[in-house]
Amino acid sequence: MSLPKRRFDSLIIGAGGAGLNAALRLSAADARVAVVSKVFPTRSHTVAAQGGVNAALANVLPDDWHWHMFDTVKGSDYLGDQDAIEYMCREAIPTVYELEHAGVPFSRLDNGRIYQRAFGGMSQNFGGDQAARTCAAADRTGHAILHTLYQQNLRARTHFFDEFFAIDLLRDEEGAILGALVLEIETGAPLVIEAKTTLLATGGYGQVFRTTTNAFINTGDGMAMALRAGVPLQDMEFFQFHPTGVAGKGMLITEGARGEGGYLMNVRGERFMERYAPKALDLASRDVVSRAIATEVREGRGCGEEGDHVLLKLDHLGRDVVGRRLPGISEICRTFLGIDPAEEPIPVFPTAHYAMGGIPTDRLGRVVAPARHGPEEVVPGLYAAGECACVSVHGANRLGGNSLLDILVFGRAAGNDIIQFLKEKPNHRPLPDSAVEPALARLARWDRKGEGETVHAVKADLRKLMEDHCGVFRTEAVMAEGVDKLKALRERIDGVRLRDHSQTFNTARIEALELDNLVDVGMATLMSALYRQESRGAHSRVDFPKRDDANWMKHSLYFREGDRMDFKPVRTKPLTVESFPPKERVY
Ligand code: FUM
Repeated sequence: MSLPKRRFDSLIIGAGGAGLNAALRLSAADARVAVVSKVFPTRSHTVAAQGGVNAALANVLPDDWHWHMFDTVKGSDYLGDQDAIEYMCREAIPTVYELEHAGVPFSRLDNGRIYQRAFGGMSQNFGGDQAARTCAAADRTGHAILHTLYQQNLRARTHFFDEFFAIDLLRDEEGAILGALVLEIETGAPLVIEAKTTLLATGGYGQVFRTTTNAFINTGDGMAMALRAGVPLQDMEFFQFHPTGVAGKGMLITEGARGEGGYLMNVRGERFMERYAPKALDLASRDVVSRAIATEVREGRGCGEEGDHVLLKLDHLGRDVVGRRLPGISEICRTFLGIDPAEEPIPVFPTAHYAMGGIPTDRLGRVVAPARHGPEEVVPGLYAAGECACVSVHGANRLGGNSLLDILVFGRAAGNDIIQFLKEKPNHRPLPDSAVEPALARLARWDRKGEGETVHAVKADLRKLMEDHCGVFRTEAVMAEGVDKLKALRERIDGVRLRDHSQTFNTARIEALELDNLVDVGMATLMSALYRQESRGAHSRVDFPKRDDANWMKHSLYFREGDRMDFKPVRTKPLTVESFPPKERVY
């Protein structure tokens, strides 16, 4: 089949903060860059990030990147790789200044410096008093960053393919990645984009859960593409439930609300975090706060007619603070709950928020994968950054404000390494027909119309299954049943009902492709969770309630072929400082 083809030095799939920060480096270095995005770039999910980005600027309270590093290692429940964590925390400071100079409209202190708020799990002096490290643009920080990066990319003449959906990576016999097959959503026309390097920056997959902060677009596309290319996914059992989603709906109420002084209450009006985290209280690490809320509800101290949520109280902060520092969540409360948070408490419950796991990379953004039972190697030409990647800086639990940081630091690192790659390997590798065939075959799977279940029905079952069988608290029996159910559900995808693919904006076919991706990442999550027989960070096993460093201080790897699991060591040695050895994690 003869397909239209375009050639670029570098292909970036995904136009959130990671993709756009990488693209900016590359365009500025005069590389020919294509950014493929299934939505208009400024609708990428980075736009929804509320609370801020961490950097030890010390604008409000004393701070030091070593303290940020300590908090991140502890927050990760000691599963994060300490070389990458050191790199991220050090780079945070120039990264935020770079954003400021690029035009991000950060909130300001009276002295003109960038405003920084308190966030969960942040301390001064290695576990001392609460730190104020999270640089914020009110509670719309992601919006401010994404728009700035997009505008800078337009100025740098990055080439955008807006509303194009990536089908699969193109791979030669030696396993080198040569670009991707993409689909123009409006017309349904396929296009081959050939590139010397391909960066996956497709974000997370929160849509696999029924209640989530994630947008409709967060369907794990890049992670599933990596799986189909033979790359395993790392640490997928660690999925973060954000403590304060709008109860029953899931939208994010920023941790910044607690950073500004808000607190949680149960039906008795008790400030229950006093019992779970006597020192950090409502600003304990997210896994701790989410479990506390779920426990209050399970033990009958929930609020509302069903007793199924707790309350987040902000009214004591005053209308000025709520209006100036938290305008976005005020709007969410008015729109979705019909309440004013300056007057009434917000009903909240944990909601699926963030994937700590993903495509394994080194800290230059290069994808690393073990050959079957062999050592780990760089996959030639393939990079990943942002939530779809696992560097791993978040380990078993991410701290709030470290995800915007991750996408910016490692998006930039990947861009810089790609520049080097392009200098060393200036020529395209040959693109054989055989490299395109598997991607075309995937497309052909849904190249029909027909009867059957709707995509929506199968997706709704998947999301409920994941919530029921892989939620905040987990057991062997419940997860094993979930794996069986998911295997059965996987069989239903081929039969979903589609429209004639020649119709414009054939969203049914795109949604079927997304569902296929979600099933793969869902299986990676369930299988990894079933294997890990300990509780660590966000992975809480009722049947194995303790962390088990002797047996489980290791990263998990899930391979799609044969639903196989493997493991690899945690990198506990930082780049220049002493390691932080595992300790009991108390807040
Ligand atoms: O609560 C929040 O604003 C979320 C921030 C984050 O996930 O980093």
